[in-house]
Amino acid sequence: VEVNRDYDLSRPIDSTQGMRQGLTSYGDAHFSLFLRKVFIKALGYSEDALSRPIIGIVNTYSSFNPCHANIPQLIDAVKRGVQLNGGLAIDFPTISLHESFASPTSMYLRNLMSMDTEEMIKAQPVDAVVLIGGCDKTTPAQLMGGISANKPILHLVTGPMMPGSHKGARIGACTDCRNNWASFRAGVIDIEEIATINEELAPTAGTCGVMGTASTMACILVGLGLMSFKGASAPAVSSARLRIAESTGANAVAVITAGERLKPQSLLTRESFINAITVLQAIGGSTNAVVHLMAIVNRHPKLAGSITLDTFDEVGRRTPLLVDLKPSGSNYMTDFHNSGGMGALLHKLRPLLHLEAMTISGKTLGEALDSEILLPIPRELQCIQAFDAPLYSASSIVVLRGNLAPQGAVMKASASKDRKLLNYSGRAVVFAGSVDLARRIDDENLDVTPESVLVLQNIGPVGNPGMPEAGLIPIPRKLASQGVTDMLRISDGRMSGTAGGTIVLHVSPEAADPDSVFGIIRDGDVITCNIEERVIRVEISDEEIQGRLSVRRKEVAAQKSHPWIEREKMRGYRGLYMRSVNQADQGADFDFLRTET
Ligand code: FES
Ligand code: MG
Repeated sequence: VEVNRDYDLSRPIDSTQGMRQGLTSYGDAHFSLFLRKVFIKALGYSEDALSRPIIGIVNTYSSFNPCHANIPQLIDAVKRGVQLNGGLAIDFPTISLHESFASPTSMYLRNLMSMDTEEMIKAQPVDAVVLIGGCDKTTPAQLMGGISANKPILHLVTGPMMPGSHKGARIGACTDCRNNWASFRAGVIDIEEIATINEELAPTAGTCGVMGTASTMACILVGLGLMSFKGASAPAVSSARLRIAESTGANAVAVITAGERLKPQSLLTRESFINAITVLQAIGGSTNAVVHLMAIVNRHPKLAGSITLDTFDEVGRRTPLLVDLKPSGSNYMTDFHNSGGMGALLHKLRPLLHLEAMTISGKTLGEALDSEILLPIPRELQCIQAFDAPLYSASSIVVLRGNLAPQGAVMKASASKDRKLLNYSGRAVVFAGSVDLARRIDDENLDVTPESVLVLQNIGPVGNPGMPEAGLIPIPRKLASQGVTDMLRISDGRMSGTAGGTIVLHVSPEAADPDSVFGIIRDGDVITCNIEERVIRVEISDEEIQGRLSVRRKEVAAQKSHPWIEREKMRGYRGLYMRSVNQADQGADFDFLRTET
């Protein structure tokens, strides 16, 4: 194994070598080296240990984060892989984000985590880094930071949790959290039963066991070439997961000798992203992944701006939906794993993939697939459909544009429950924000019919910091009780990857922007959604739009408490977030973190 020369930690203290990038400086080069060695030796490392390639392991463990509960074991296994192969493994912490314990939303903190990750990778003398994470925002944050830092990165996800069991049926977070709570509210199950269910929904460590955002991002990492095939789906509590960790450590040592070639800014090409988007469409993945992938690609100096929302739509038109998991199907991630996981899926998608794309294994995707041994799986155990017998023929996720969303909006068309809504016009019932929605949605006197279009404004990146997953606007109770199960719903917010319905999300620019047309929609305006034409439009004249906008701009300017105005003098991280976050179509990243192009 190549000896680490980049960081001088093993160099004799009388070295005359000058300062190198990535090393803490105390002014005088010799004295700086001397001090670094004083402190690294306090940890007990020998000269021999320090002469090895140093593999950093990013530790995102927290006792608040059950999705990451297996990280201590994973770190042990990664270290074993590194050290059996002649490297020195050193773990260090970054912040930990769990979906349920990251107020106001974990999305608000994703960019902070990406900054933490980027700066700690740059600040410390590591030759390559293993990024351990899994919960929804963690893998995107780590990849955003990793691309910007541009040292070799290897992702290791914590893996999905096992399903639980209730009255003989399997249940799992979080699709079944929603159904069971609805049954409890409807009086179908009682308090004792819902309490029992509460204990079974997340029965082990690991990420949500359905095709939510965590699983989607894990599959996307494989599509990008940054993780091994089995890496996406092996259960968090399996011994397979530990062997994946060990081999990730081994690979981290090997990656160093490849030089520039396997650093993220060289490894990731346009073709890698097209492969990842193909995976997203074929798994019927979470719409959140669109926002994350836009943030990720815009960190890449050679690719920023060249992949847009339209790329997702183009790829979707030729990609069938093949994976039958909750929320759209009935299976869990463990079933996907047992059906061959990403290796089996990528084999089926072969005609659509750029097989020449490089992967972190040093092989191209095509070479990696050729060396994958696939055992035949009995049809009844199979949750990956054949390429010519898909669950949905194409365009699982579509991108819509029109006067309502000039910068775009996103819909998971495959999750629509009432297909007539995909080509539809109806009158808007408008809610000005989450509070207004909560106050009025179940009001008996709400002027709404099954033909209405529900509009929720001001839950975009600035309007409701963190862009909450409130886009799944509930069906008003008085309609739900008549048996209405789906309506066309539109917002500038996000939706959980575990939810479904005919729901337009991520409308850009968001309603809080004084120039946003979405912000001036009123009750009774006719809204048209046409999936074939990829159109989302409000049927009012341009003159009417300009008239309403000029009134609104004045109103906003006069309102001291409007977030668009108030943000100019907000303190701390919130102020930084509010002033710097860009729109969902750009990834809701901070403008100053986007690559310089
Ligand atoms: Fe962590 Fe779902 S809460 S993956
Ligand atoms: Mg989620």
